Formats: sequence, structure tokens, C-alpha cells
Amino acid sequence: MKKRRKVRYDRIAVLVIGCVLLIGAIFAGVGCMKDDKRTKTSDHSVSSEKDPVKDITQVEGYQVLKDGGLSDEQIGEMTSLSNYWPQRAQRYAAYQGADTIEQTVLHVNMDLDMEPYENSVTVTDDSDMTLLVNKSHALPEGYIPADLKVMEQYACIAGEDYSCQDVAYMELRSEALNAYYQWCQAAQEREIQIRAIAAYRSYDYQAGLWNYNAGLYGTEYADQYYARPGQSEHNSGLAVDITFNGHNFNEIELYDGYEWILSSAHEYGFILRYPEEKQDITRYGYESWHFRYVGKDAAKIIYENNWTLEEYHGSQKEEKTQN
Ligand code: DAL
Ligand code: ZN
Repeated sequence: MKKRRKVRYDRIAVLVIGCVLLIGAIFAGVGCMKDDKRTKTSDHSVSSEKDPVKDITQVEGYQVLKDGGLSDEQIGEMTSLSNYWPQRAQRYAAYQGADTIEQTVLHVNMDLDMEPYENSVTVTDDSDMTLLVNKSHALPEGYIPADLKVMEQYACIAGEDYSCQDVAYMELRSEALNAYYQWCQAAQEREIQIRAIAAYRSYDYQAGLWNYNAGLYGTEYADQYYARPGQSEHNSGLAVDITFNGHNFNEIELYDGYEWILSSAHEYGFILRYPEEKQDITRYGYESWHFRYVGKDAAKIIYENNWTLEEYHGSQKEEKTQN
């Protein structure tokens, strides 16, 4: 009996030790879980820092923007914009003309950080109907579009139509000309007789036009209403100056019918190129008569956003031309 009792004590001792170890193990386990949680939390922040998408310092242009004085928060906001162009980071950082990060990017994308005519880019690809020709994008000297077509209808007749200059014929690029015909035909059905008073202009003609006006009214005036040679959309064969129903071209906005012209242009691929309220962007005076063919898709986007062609290009994910 004594022996059996002794054995029972041993068992109890083993049981107690086992329990102590088990409880210890449970506490240790909870401790481990706590540690695991801490590790996981810290792993998570480490991994998000290492994540190339979330690690701000890894974004293209980060160092340039940082050196330019932007905070990480500002850089985060800027680089997450869909129209952030990393190759312009230095220019974004240097630009002082905007109140917001979004404006800074858009303004710089539109070259508003540069003086007109400064570092003008030469446009070499004319296959895209949205090509940009302005005070920072010039066509090559002597450029002539390969697909010019003579305007057979809806051109003004000198001596008959007010504002019509004495030119033998007018031309537009083929796609633009067909769209122009369709637009004029739709207008005619509403008794709005659109007539072109100017279309394609050669590099040399534009040079003469600018020189003439600069001589008469001074450089500042000439630059407000006339493009310098190579920088006129008329040289691109994609722009047309219009009048309608015999009105003076430079006051067509005052007459019934102009509203329809304005609101229908995009359906045929045209945009009003130099709106009154966008002169700080286009850098030209208001021209109610100057319409530019860009194709239906772009024209619709531009119209619906109330953009200029500069804003359209500046809002793209990537720049089309290098500046
Ligand atoms: N009037 C426009 C700006 C041109 O000369 O092309
Ligand atoms: Zn014009």
C-alpha cells in the first residue's frame, strides 16, 4: 500500500509540473502571438515602404522634386496625378505661377513656365490630327502638308463675300476638308451659310503676314493676333477662318447663328481655337472666326471639358512632343 501511495505522489508531481509547463506554454504562446502581431505590423510598414508603388522616394523624379523644395506630401500628390510627366520634374519644382499642385503640373505641361517662342519644339510628326502648333511648337521651316486639297465649296468669293481676300483658291488637309464640307452642309440646312475666308497658309505667306502687321502695328500687336512663321495652324492645313451670312468675320459672334456654329463644331471635329476666356493659355487674342480641325474624338473631349488644345495635350498621361 505504501509503495502504491508513493507512486501516486510521483504521478501528482508529474501532473503538477505538466500543468505548470502547460500554463507557461500557453502564456508563452500568447506572448509569441503578441510578438507576431508586432512583427506583422512592422513587416507591413516595411513592406509598404519597400513597395515600389508606395515608396515615394522610388517614384521617378522624386529626388529632383525633393531638391527643388517640395515636401514628401506634395511630391506624393504631384506624382499620383495621371498627367505627371517625370521628365518635367525640374520644371514643376521651379514653377511659381500656380496655387495648387494640379495647376503646376498642367501649366508646365502647357509650357506656361516658358516665355513664348522660348525653346520652341519642332513638330515633325503630322500624322495625328491633334498636333500642337503654338508659340512653343513650330512646324519645320518650309513645311507643306502632303495631303492638301483645294476647297471646292464653301469658300468665300472675293468681291462677293465681305471679308473675302483675293486668293486663287483655298486648301485644307483632306480629312479636315471633308469634315468642313459636312459641317457647312449641316449649317446650310439651318440657313447658316458658312464661308471660309482663310485656310492653309504657306510658311512664307505667314512670314509676310506677320511682318506686315508688325510693321504697321508693332510686334506686340502682331504677336497677339498673328502667328510667327512656322507657328501658325494655318500652315498645318488644319485651320480655317470663317464667316457666315455675309457678316464681317471679326464680329460673327454677334449674330444669330453663331451659337449653332459654336455648339456644333465638335460634332464635325472642329474646335474654337482661341476662346476669349483662355487667352492666358493660348497666348493669342480672342478669335471668334478661327476653327481648328482635331478629329471628332478629340473635339468632343475638348468641347465637353471646355478645354483648349493646350489643356487637352497637357492633360494626357504622356507628352507627345519633347520640350
Ligand atoms: N491668327 C492666328 C493666330 C494665326 O496667325 O495663325
Ligand atoms: Zn485663323
